[in-house]
Amino acid sequence: MCHVVPFGTVSVRKSVKPRSQMEDEMHNWTLGFVGAGVMAEVMIAGLLEEGILPPQRIVASNRRAARSTELVERYGIRCSQDNLSVAAQADVLVLSVKPQTLPKILPQLSGALQPSTMVLSIIAGASSAVLTRGLGHSRIARCMPNLPCRIRKGMTVWYAPESSNPADLQRIDTILGVMGQALRVTEETHVDRATAVNGTGPAIVAEFVKSMLDAATYIGEPRNVARETVLATLAGTVEMIRQSDAHVAQLIDEVTSPGGTTSRALQVLKQGRFSAVITDSIDAAYQRTVALGGALEEKVGE
Ligand SMILES: NC(=O)c1ccc[n+]([C@@H]2O[C@H](COP(=O)([O-])OP(=O)(O)OC[C@H]3O[C@@H](n4cnc5c(N)ncnc54)[C@H](OP(=O)(O)O)[C@@H]3O)[C@@H](O)[C@H]2O)c1
Repeated sequence: MCHVVPFGTVSVRKSVKPRSQMEDEMHNWTLGFVGAGVMAEVMIAGLLEEGILPPQRIVASNRRAARSTELVERYGIRCSQDNLSVAAQADVLVLSVKPQTLPKILPQLSGALQPSTMVLSIIAGASSAVLTRGLGHSRIARCMPNLPCRIRKGMTVWYAPESSNPADLQRIDTILGVMGQALRVTEETHVDRATAVNGTGPAIVAEFVKSMLDAATYIGEPRNVARETVLATLAGTVEMIRQSDAHVAQLIDEVTSPGGTTSRALQVLKQGRFSAVITDSIDAAYQRTVALGGALEEKVGE
């Protein structure tokens, strides 16, 4: 069952229990992964934990045999080093290799997919156009998950053309829903932006938390107290912003008394160009994503 909440050019879909008919139907599908690293394992673990697919319906290929053995022993899925055989048997094929590996695997897979196979790429920067050209296949969706998917609190932004088969869309929503929130966007370029915002975001937020912890201990707060207060402050503030209809600037205003402590703290952030530095940081990640995409465009076009 899905809740769809309109939100500008995007729609937010949160997968909620009970399990849908579609999820039951998922038992009859084969999900393939080309590249069985960190992100593939996060998806595999979530799908198995939710009982969306039985292990024998998941097949994954990677480079090292030792990694295959590890995944077979841990999850009971089927693994191989043969990308082609995985691609040929998958109804939904997740491409989960690093961007630099993509130009190597596309020629192997080109022409090997069943016309009905839906490809879901999680590869940063790789456009649908590049994937379509490299695979000789047009049924393609892209997504950008993030690291909190590991604990099923992730944020995944995904794109599939409007003309996509509704069953494919539902399958993708279900697959991504096991990792946390899944948000479908109507323009592919938003996936590249998401690579910078939610893909890179966890590192930026963790860096901010680290700075808060350092600051708290600098002024003498015991480390255990600092950890509790910083994390609770962050979680509470995020929840408060989420629950409020007010603009975030208004909430800042509410806690800022003239001449008070918050006003002093915010002034120092302004002097340090805090907001501008965050913008520059996210923009740098975005420009890097675009550059990765451009490099793939050149290589796959050759
Ligand atoms: N990690 C993140 O937080 C994150 C977030 C969002 C999106 N992504 C995207 O997810 C993708 C995968 O990232 P990851 O962190 O999961 O990387 P990873 O852990 O390095 O996994 C890459 C996998 O690709 C396999 N591989 C390498 N060469 C191969 C080949 N020729 N054929 C088949 N498999 C091959 C590797 O096998 P071996 O281990 O045997 O070498 C490994 O299992 C990337 O494109 C990244 O942009 C990652």
